[in-house]
Amino acid sequence: MSSRPVCIAQISDLHIKSPGTLAYGRVNTGKALERCVAAVNEFNPAPVFTVISGDLADTPTADEYQHLEQLLAPLKLPFAGIPGNHDARELMRAALPSAAYAFTAGALNQKIEVGELDLILLDSSVPGKPHGTLDAATLQWLEQTLASSADRPALLFLHHPPFKTGIWHMDRQNLLNADQLASIVKRHPRARLIAAGHVHRAMLTIFEGIPATICPAPNHAVDLDLAELREPSFKIEPPAFHLHAWFPGEGFGSVVTHQVPIGTFDGPHPFFGPDGKLL
Ligand SMILES: [Fe+2]
Repeated sequence: MSSRPVCIAQISDLHIKSPGTLAYGRVNTGKALERCVAAVNEFNPAPVFTVISGDLADTPTADEYQHLEQLLAPLKLPFAGIPGNHDARELMRAALPSAAYAFTAGALNQKIEVGELDLILLDSSVPGKPHGTLDAATLQWLEQTLASSADRPALLFLHHPPFKTGIWHMDRQNLLNADQLASIVKRHPRARLIAAGHVHRAMLTIFEGIPATICPAPNHAVDLDLAELREPSFKIEPPAFHLHAWFPGEGFGSVVTHQVPIGTFDGPHPFFGPDGKLL
């Protein structure tokens, strides 16, 4: 048997409302998170950590964060959250008081050591704005943090994607200073993955030679309107989360990102019968 990877779960864009309130009058984001937490808990082998990559709340209000706390209580894994454009830093600090943020005020950046891996959580939120920026203090912290232990593989997480997706109304509110992120990560080969959220649908590209992903949401998806036919819209598509599986090996090892659908599906069924022949 091959060696088992270290698995990090990523869930994103929860948009939790006050109990009984639907997002956009239509989406029960609380129920969606319940199903997502159950799916993460059931995954075998158990991931070692869960990163929540932004938009934990929706409006946001203290009520929404309280509801979020209730919904996350059954999660069996340790977790950490990064603010998105629907979050408020101070409400998040109050709701998740045990988080070890790098700064006592401002951006909620964190470095989390999980065995041989560093998880680097970057706060790209800009208070009151939909777009993202990594502020000067965060960029400096990232540079120092990546330089501090050059032999450990690092996975970077942030809410706003640092690349164009082709969805016009999201691309005008992505990470506006992606060039500054690029100039840092290219100096640090231990950065092995950049994992974002914000667009509520799975995507994969290369950013400065590093794999870069967007995590799907447990609720609604941003409409994949690459023809720019419609006003900003969402669709209810199959919900999912990401599982980043890190395999130790030469250099910094390797990372594979799996998309894990949330729900109950037919199977698994064996390929082979008791005689070893294909069924
Ligand atoms: Fe967002």
